[in-house]
Amino acid sequence: MPKKSIKFFHGTELVELSNVGPSETILDYLRLRMHLTGTKEGCGEGDCGACTVAIGQLHEGKVAYQPVNSCIQLLGSLDGKELVTVEDLASPSGKLHPVQSAMVENHGSQCGFCTPGFIMSLFVLQQEGTNPDRNEINNALAGNLCRCTGYRPIIDAAKQVCNEPVIERPAALFALLEKNQDTFIGDETSFFASPSTQSALATLYHEHQDATLVAGATDVGLWITKQLRPLPKVIYLGAVKSLKNIAIEIADLVMGAGVTYAQALPHLDALHPDLGQVVRRIGSKQVRAVGTIGGNIANGSPIGDMPPMLIALSSQIELRSIEGKRSIALEDFYIEYGKQDLKPNEYLAQIRISLLQANQQFRAYKISKRFDQDISAIMAGFCFTIENDAIMNARCAFGGMAGTPMLAHKTQAALMGLSIKDETAWQQAAQLLAQDFTPMDDMRASAQYRLNTAKALLLKARAEIAGETNTRILQADSKGAPTHAQ
Ligand SMILES: Cc1cc2nc3c(=O)[nH]c(=O)nc-3n(C[C@H](O)[C@H](O)[C@H](O)COP(=O)(O)OP(=O)(O)OC[C@H]3O[C@@H](n4cnc5c(N)ncnc54)[C@H](O)[C@@H]3O)c2cc1C
Ligand code: FES
Ligand code: FES
Repeated sequence: MPKKSIKFFHGTELVELSNVGPSETILDYLRLRMHLTGTKEGCGEGDCGACTVAIGQLHEGKVAYQPVNSCIQLLGSLDGKELVTVEDLASPSGKLHPVQSAMVENHGSQCGFCTPGFIMSLFVLQQEGTNPDRNEINNALAGNLCRCTGYRPIIDAAKQVCNEPVIERPAALFALLEKNQDTFIGDETSFFASPSTQSALATLYHEHQDATLVAGATDVGLWITKQLRPLPKVIYLGAVKSLKNIAIEIADLVMGAGVTYAQALPHLDALHPDLGQVVRRIGSKQVRAVGTIGGNIANGSPIGDMPPMLIALSSQIELRSIEGKRSIALEDFYIEYGKQDLKPNEYLAQIRISLLQANQQFRAYKISKRFDQDISAIMAGFCFTIENDAIMNARCAFGGMAGTPMLAHKTQAALMGLSIKDETAWQQAAQLLAQDFTPMDDMRASAQYRLNTAKALLLKARAEIAGETNTRILQADSKGAPTHAQ
């Protein structure tokens, strides 16, 4: 029988809740139920970081913390974890936590609205105990906006506190929390459910095909807070362990659909640095802590960052239901805008990404107005198989150029057999992008800009691979900061 409550630590308290609304957020729980108003609501959509709280989980015998945007995180997702809010940091006698003292000493707060969010992001950074440099601090704070203090004093506070010793939090308490158990809170018409295995997930989803699957909730959270969509039945995927597996199988990197960006980053970076660079620019640390690769694929967005890169790498996805499983090429998953090849009782189980062979070259580029926290105007992923300078196979996938992420079939055909050094021939082939795509025209970019940029990116990839340029402008360095790298 599934359990009918969730349990988590909040501060020193073990909290057990048997009344958890399917779409109740952590922020609403804190502010409306518990009247803990230290955690602020700014944008309500994961952009400003004012609502940041820290979530602790056991990792290799220690408590590891991640910052999350509580405005778009489901309360039910706290099961088995520790919640730390700004109220929990000072000692009972009122002595400030070192992070708080550092913010006071460095004048890191004016109106104070953003401050609890910054404090919690800095708390997580300090707990990581890595003695971060300026780039790493910027990266950790990219999801926290301040409109009055200016960032320098806050970064000074970060530098000061991250030099101080970490006070480790007790891991033994986690033994009091149940693990590997299904949860079902509610009734047949309205519930929050959290299966712990894929078979329980498949059965539950088969019985409730009108339920909403929720992984990191970095998309679904906005349906709740911005679209005010009623979500009476929620199946949370975060407790299904096998959806978090990551493995190398012969010539493939295989990842469960529930793997977060933060978990995937080192593996994708190892596959090709361009993958790592794009992932480091997805949302913010808060978004990457919970947002999943599976959610990015399944949401069907034409401007998601992962699909063009994964399509270029010939990725296959595995879809499962109570009836069994099937694998399809990722490009075939996207039928048209808002329509994916997914049966009502099916879910995305895993992604199989081909490792690069010695004769293959990969490039990926994200074009957006801001470096951090911005959705792409255009996303491009290229994979070329090259023998004796000739293109034997070309996969050129784009996001932002059509209603779905798509391969540029005519352009690819024209590239076959061309020498990687023949710039003129590539320029002619790039003209065919206008036949492959009728790009959208919206506030992120005009159709003409998208088309011109797509051509430029293809030619840039050629020039880089041909070794004609070694300047890759506005790359991120290994810590996520933009650089003009050689
Ligand atoms: C502030 C902010 C910044 C962002 N920046 C970026 C960005 O830079 N680039 C980018 O691409 N995206 C960005 N996003 C969008 C979002 O973070 C990603 O699309 C993310 O990967 C979604 O994953 P999730 O786990 O949070 O999905 P969820 O919100 O949990 O789910 C998204 C959709 O996928 C479905 N779903 C999830 N998992 C499965 C599964 N296993 N099987 C079937 N269906 C499933 C859900 O039902 C839902 O329809 C941003 C979002 C926010 C809030
Ligand atoms: S309130 Fe802005 S990120 Fe949550
Ligand atoms: S101190 Fe006012 S928004 Fe940061």
